[in-house]
Amino acid sequence: MSDLRELYQEVIIDHSKRPRNFHVMPDAKQISVGHNPLCGDKMTVFLKVDDGRITDVSFDGTGCAISMASASLMTESLKGKSVAEAVQLFGMFHELVTSEPGQIKIAEALGKLAAFAGVCEFPIRVKCASLAWHTLRAALEGKQETTTE
Ligand code: FES
Repeated sequence: MSDLRELYQEVIIDHSKRPRNFHVMPDAKQISVGHNPLCGDKMTVFLKVDDGRITDVSFDGTGCAISMASASLMTESLKGKSVAEAVQLFGMFHELVTSEPGQIKIAEALGKLAAFAGVCEFPIRVKCASLAWHTLRAALEGKQETTTE
Protein backbone atom coordinates (compact mmCIF):
# COMPACT_ATOMS: atom_id res chain seq x y z
CA MET A 1 0.00 0.00 0.00
CA SER A 2 1.36 3.44 -0.86
CA ASP A 3 2.15 5.92 1.91
CA LEU A 4 -0.64 8.22 0.70
CA ARG A 5 -3.24 5.43 0.77
CA GLU A 6 -2.09 4.49 4.24
CA LEU A 7 -2.36 8.09 5.39
CA TYR A 8 -5.86 8.38 3.90
CA GLN A 9 -6.90 5.18 5.64
CA GLU A 10 -5.57 6.45 8.98
CA VAL A 11 -7.54 9.70 8.61
CA ILE A 12 -10.77 7.77 7.91
CA ILE A 13 -10.23 5.34 10.81
CA ASP A 14 -9.42 8.20 13.20
CA HIS A 15 -12.55 10.18 12.27
CA SER A 16 -14.82 7.13 12.33
CA LYS A 17 -13.65 6.16 15.81
CA ARG A 18 -13.60 9.69 17.23
CA PRO A 19 -16.04 11.69 15.11
CA ARG A 20 -15.67 15.47 15.55
CA ASN A 21 -18.72 17.73 15.98
CA PHE A 22 -20.85 14.64 16.70
CA HIS A 23 -23.67 16.06 18.78
CA VAL A 24 -27.15 17.47 18.60
CA MET A 25 -27.28 21.26 18.34
CA PRO A 26 -30.60 22.29 19.89
CA ASP A 27 -30.34 25.95 18.85
CA ALA A 28 -29.43 25.25 15.22
CA LYS A 29 -31.66 27.14 12.78
CA GLN A 30 -31.20 24.80 9.81
CA ILE A 31 -31.63 21.07 10.43
CA SER A 32 -31.99 18.27 7.90
CA VAL A 33 -32.25 14.48 8.11
CA GLY A 34 -30.65 12.37 5.38
CA HIS A 35 -31.35 8.71 4.58
CA ASN A 36 -29.20 6.19 2.80
CA PRO A 37 -31.79 4.04 1.04
CA LEU A 38 -29.36 1.13 0.62
CA CYS A 39 -28.88 0.49 4.33
CA GLY A 40 -31.53 2.57 6.09
CA ASP A 41 -28.98 4.62 8.03
CA LYS A 42 -30.02 8.15 8.97
CA MET A 43 -28.00 11.23 9.71
CA THR A 44 -29.02 14.66 10.94
CA VAL A 45 -26.99 17.77 10.11
CA PHE A 46 -27.32 20.90 12.26
CA LEU A 47 -26.28 24.26 10.88
CA LYS A 48 -25.87 27.81 12.07
CA VAL A 49 -25.44 30.36 9.32
CA ASP A 50 -24.82 34.01 10.01
CA ASP A 51 -24.61 36.61 7.28
CA GLY A 52 -24.02 33.93 4.61
CA ARG A 53 -21.26 32.21 6.59
CA ILE A 54 -21.37 28.86 8.41
CA THR A 55 -20.60 29.65 12.03
CA ASP A 56 -21.27 26.19 13.42
CA VAL A 57 -22.13 22.72 12.12
CA SER A 58 -22.60 19.35 13.78
CA PHE A 59 -24.16 15.97 13.04
CA ASP A 60 -25.86 13.09 14.79
CA GLY A 61 -27.08 9.65 13.76
CA THR A 62 -25.88 6.20 12.87
CA GLY A 63 -23.85 4.91 9.99
CA CYS A 64 -20.87 2.90 8.90
CA ALA A 65 -17.25 3.95 9.39
CA ILE A 66 -17.14 5.69 6.00
CA SER A 67 -20.29 7.74 6.61
CA MET A 68 -19.23 8.73 10.14
CA ALA A 69 -15.74 9.73 9.01
CA SER A 70 -17.14 11.64 6.05
CA ALA A 71 -19.56 13.59 8.26
CA SER A 72 -16.84 14.32 10.79
CA LEU A 73 -14.39 15.62 8.18
CA MET A 74 -17.16 17.55 6.46
CA THR A 75 -18.05 19.44 9.63
CA GLU A 76 -14.39 20.24 10.27
CA SER A 77 -13.93 21.59 6.78
CA LEU A 78 -17.06 23.76 6.77
CA LYS A 79 -16.72 25.99 9.79
CA GLY A 80 -16.12 29.57 8.75
CA LYS A 81 -16.88 28.91 5.07
CA SER A 82 -19.43 30.93 3.14
CA VAL A 83 -22.53 29.12 1.89
CA ALA A 84 -21.21 29.48 -1.68
CA GLU A 85 -17.89 27.90 -0.68
CA ALA A 86 -19.73 25.04 1.04
CA VAL A 87 -21.77 24.34 -2.10
CA GLN A 88 -18.57 24.42 -4.17
CA LEU A 89 -16.90 21.97 -1.76
CA PHE A 90 -19.94 19.68 -2.04
CA GLY A 91 -19.45 19.66 -5.82
CA MET A 92 -15.74 18.85 -5.55
CA PHE A 93 -16.35 16.09 -3.01
CA HIS A 94 -19.13 14.59 -5.10
CA GLU A 95 -16.89 14.56 -8.15
CA LEU A 96 -14.10 12.95 -6.10
CA VAL A 97 -16.23 10.00 -5.00
CA THR A 98 -18.13 9.48 -8.26
CA SER A 99 -15.40 9.87 -10.89
CA GLU A 100 -13.73 6.93 -12.59
CA PRO A 101 -10.83 5.70 -10.45
CA GLY A 102 -7.65 7.62 -11.26
CA GLN A 103 -9.48 10.07 -13.53
CA ILE A 104 -9.71 13.01 -11.20
CA LYS A 105 -7.06 15.50 -10.23
CA ILE A 106 -7.54 16.06 -6.53
CA ALA A 107 -8.24 19.71 -5.83
CA GLU A 108 -6.05 21.24 -3.14
CA ALA A 109 -9.12 22.85 -1.60
CA LEU A 110 -10.35 19.40 -0.52
CA GLY A 111 -7.59 19.11 2.09
CA LYS A 112 -8.18 16.05 4.31
CA LEU A 113 -11.38 15.27 2.39
CA ALA A 114 -9.07 13.83 -0.28
CA ALA A 115 -8.90 10.76 2.01
CA PHE A 116 -12.09 9.62 0.27
CA ALA A 117 -10.46 9.40 -3.16
CA GLY A 118 -10.51 5.58 -2.96
CA VAL A 119 -14.29 5.43 -2.48
CA CYS A 120 -14.91 5.71 -6.24
CA GLU A 121 -13.53 2.16 -6.56
CA PHE A 122 -16.42 0.89 -4.41
CA PRO A 123 -19.68 2.21 -5.92
CA ILE A 124 -21.78 0.83 -3.06
CA ARG A 125 -19.82 3.08 -0.67
CA VAL A 126 -20.49 6.29 -2.59
CA LYS A 127 -23.83 6.78 -0.84
CA CYS A 128 -22.12 6.23 2.52
CA ALA A 129 -19.47 8.87 1.81
CA SER A 130 -21.96 11.37 0.41
CA LEU A 131 -24.78 10.95 2.97
CA ALA A 132 -23.60 13.82 5.18
CA TRP A 133 -23.01 16.05 2.15
CA HIS A 134 -26.47 15.52 0.66
CA THR A 135 -27.92 16.20 4.09
CA LEU A 136 -25.85 19.36 4.36
CA ARG A 137 -27.11 20.57 0.98
CA ALA A 138 -30.70 19.94 2.05
CA ALA A 139 -30.10 21.90 5.27
CA LEU A 140 -28.60 24.79 3.29
CA GLU A 141 -31.68 24.77 1.05
CA GLY A 142 -34.00 24.70 4.08
CA LYS A 143 -35.28 21.16 3.32
CA GLN A 144 -35.94 19.02 6.36
CA GLU A 145 -35.42 15.63 4.71
CA THR A 146 -33.39 14.19 1.89
CA THR A 147 -32.22 10.90 0.43
CA THR A 148 -28.83 10.26 -1.14
CA GLU A 149 -29.17 10.25 -4.91
FE1 FES B 1 -25.19 2.78 5.99
FE2 FES B 1 -22.75 3.21 5.05
S1 FES B 1 -23.71 1.29 5.36
S2 FES B 1 -24.23 4.67 5.61
